[in-house]
Amino acid sequence: MSRTVVQNGLVITATEEVEADLLIEDERVAALVTRQSTLARDLAAGADRVIDATGRYVIPGGVDVHTHLDFPFGGTFSSDTFETGTRAAAWGGTTTLVDFAVQSRGHALREGLDAWHAKAAGRCAVDYAFHMILSEVTEASLKEMDQLVGEGITSFKLFMAYPGVFYSDDGQILRAMQRAADNGALVMMHAENGIAIDVLAEQALARGETDPRHHGEVRRVLLEAEATHRAVQLARVAGAPLYVVHVSAREAVAELAAARDMGLPVFGETCPQYLFLSTDNLAEPGFEGAKYVCSTPLRPREHQAALWRGLRTNDLQVVSTDHCPFCFRGQKELGRGDFTRIPNGLPGVEHRMDLLHQAVVDGHISRRRWIEIACATPARMFGLHPKKGTLAPGADADVVVYDPTATQTLSAATHHMNVDYSVYEGRTVTGRVETVLSRGAPVIENGTYVGRAGHGSFVPRSLCQYLD
Ligand code: URP
Ligand code: ZN
Ligand code: ZN
Ligand code: ZN
Repeated sequence: MSRTVVQNGLVITATEEVEADLLIEDERVAALVTRQSTLARDLAAGADRVIDATGRYVIPGGVDVHTHLDFPFGGTFSSDTFETGTRAAAWGGTTTLVDFAVQSRGHALREGLDAWHAKAAGRCAVDYAFHMILSEVTEASLKEMDQLVGEGITSFKLFMAYPGVFYSDDGQILRAMQRAADNGALVMMHAENGIAIDVLAEQALARGETDPRHHGEVRRVLLEAEATHRAVQLARVAGAPLYVVHVSAREAVAELAAARDMGLPVFGETCPQYLFLSTDNLAEPGFEGAKYVCSTPLRPREHQAALWRGLRTNDLQVVSTDHCPFCFRGQKELGRGDFTRIPNGLPGVEHRMDLLHQAVVDGHISRRRWIEIACATPARMFGLHPKKGTLAPGADADVVVYDPTATQTLSAATHHMNVDYSVYEGRTVTGRVETVLSRGAPVIENGTYVGRAGHGSFVPRSLCQYLD
């Protein structure tokens, strides 16, 4: 048996902050020993490896439940593969990804899932799991949902946006929700009224409004709020819980808050781009704004306060990245002269833990809330608890030693994502990942990558564990 001790750090989980040493045996956390305890003195003696975390935080590895690696969109594929994307995640202290396998129209869920297993197997630096995107709700795909739940695919994303691509109508959504109410799966919703958005986009293009900023303008706040409201009502009718992805608008947060005030099992995630970026970025001159095109879109700055507030009041429970990178050269450029052709998505898997630590430094959230929204809640919500998201005996030893005082400047010149620009170019943040263990194995050691493609394993998930 291999024993590692992480000593002298401040261990932070969603529920406590404690001066403790962490004992790891093989791939698991064996014990947390508080430093007052007499056991602490002898802990390092029998260890194969001792990691000194003096002045550092010792936190669970991040759990990012929304990534799109090697994802087909807008006639191209997102630029991070499972190899490069999971490596970048590790650099940023994230040790579990839940990526979206895609059902192609006219094909079985099984084919999509098999294809995503093939993309990921043997290539990942850290552990991964899958949700499934339902592109076509039919009797056959509804039946397949039950089978997939049995294989650890316990959540399904549906789209009220992107007509002709991933879009489902209300009847299809209701059927999928009814099935989820039966089989225990969680429905994740992209809540934007895509039918109305497409009308506004067509009208904008006809007026000659082709620049990236019009992407944000036609994807109106009201159409996110309306779709969020409708998704909540459909979930109520079906008797199913609901998780709304990438919430960006204040009015959508208000819909979730109203539903939760009624006691409904409705949950929401937001992403760092909505907390730190805005329509000012989309309006950057030339074609620069294309770097910031994603859906839901970036919003005017005044929406940020509502998102931070939602994270504090627990009307939003999770921060994921929706990492879906496309290079500026050759990919974002597909939409020069027509914003509807810009592939949607931003890079970010590497920076989530750091940006949320910056939010701690800035006073938006507490340290424990940082771990709750980035590790613990996403793990519980998506059936990864008790393996992931916490540091407790029996949990996977996915551990990050975090230096809360180091500063770093984010840049495409230094990041590890396979994309030729950074949406955070030049931004300085306080805090930095120093060492990362994935199931006890070093992946990042004092700021050097020592991991291996293929170390990361597929994690079948249990049913979602809903919180309050
Ligand atoms: O713009 C985005 N978010 N691209 C990825 C696909 C999605 O809707 O999550
Ligand atoms: Zn087929
Ligand atoms: Zn989406
Ligand atoms: Zn997404």
